[in-house]
Amino acid sequence: MDRFKLYYVSIISSNISSAGDITTQTLSLLKGERPIVAVTAYDAPTARYADEAGVDLILVGDSVGTTVLGFDSTVPVTLEMMIHHTAAVTRQRPGALVVADIPYTLAHERFVDLLRACRRLIQEGGADAVKIEGGAEIASKVERLTRAGIPVLGHIGLLPQQVKVIGGYRKFGRSDTEKEILTNDGMALESAGCFAIIAEMVEGTVAGAIASQLTIPLIGIGSGPHCDGQILVVHDLLGMNPGRVPSFVKVYAQIGDAMREGIAQYAEEVRSNRFPL
Ligand code: KIV
Repeated sequence: MDRFKLYYVSIISSNISSAGDITTQTLSLLKGERPIVAVTAYDAPTARYADEAGVDLILVGDSVGTTVLGFDSTVPVTLEMMIHHTAAVTRQRPGALVVADIPYTLAHERFVDLLRACRRLIQEGGADAVKIEGGAEIASKVERLTRAGIPVLGHIGLLPQQVKVIGGYRKFGRSDTEKEILTNDGMALESAGCFAIIAEMVEGTVAGAIASQLTIPLIGIGSGPHCDGQILVVHDLLGMNPGRVPSFVKVYAQIGDAMREGIAQYAEEVRSNRFPL
């Protein structure tokens, strides 16, 4: 490892707060050193708790649509909603890298509209970078964005914004053809200048093989243990998702139950004249 890399990896690994803000460069340097920790957040308090827990990357995902806004997919989420939630997260000034999702279809619209959306997420939302769903088919746009100074996190495998085309959520990379497509997607996005890529619901061995071919980190969700890091939706991992939680999620706390019990206790005390005293 060169001295520059050794310096940053050692301060990031030993004491996250002394490392200051995580940048796309310091995040990339973690590949091969230790797994990257990423989580979603859509508001200031969650950003604060995630940052205090020492996560490396906070994703303001368009999963805000299903977790917070009551939609049944990410499709209805608009750019205005993404800017609103990204700004709430960045007002907390987390040391973690904050990445905002480009919402439904924008990546496939005119380049100028995509560039404007990225600029708004960074200038108005305060994001450090954007995430774009898609592989080789959007690599030329990603290349133009990175040349324009927009840091891009790629997203391959299951693309939730394509749910109306793929007809549901499933694992990717089971056939040789899909394996080849995913590998090409990863390589194309790396060549286009992505600083890291998310692999969602990719066969574990395939994700591991792609991670070892890339020089940038591959961060998995439902893609097994061989990626360079992991990301989970915060509402899933904290037991705050009253709907169906994907089978790959480990639930680390039952915040939903604690909320229900706290509110029920309050209601009971108001009704029985025990609060306020
Ligand atoms: O929107 C989101 O939360 C995501 C993650 C599932 C990676 O894209």
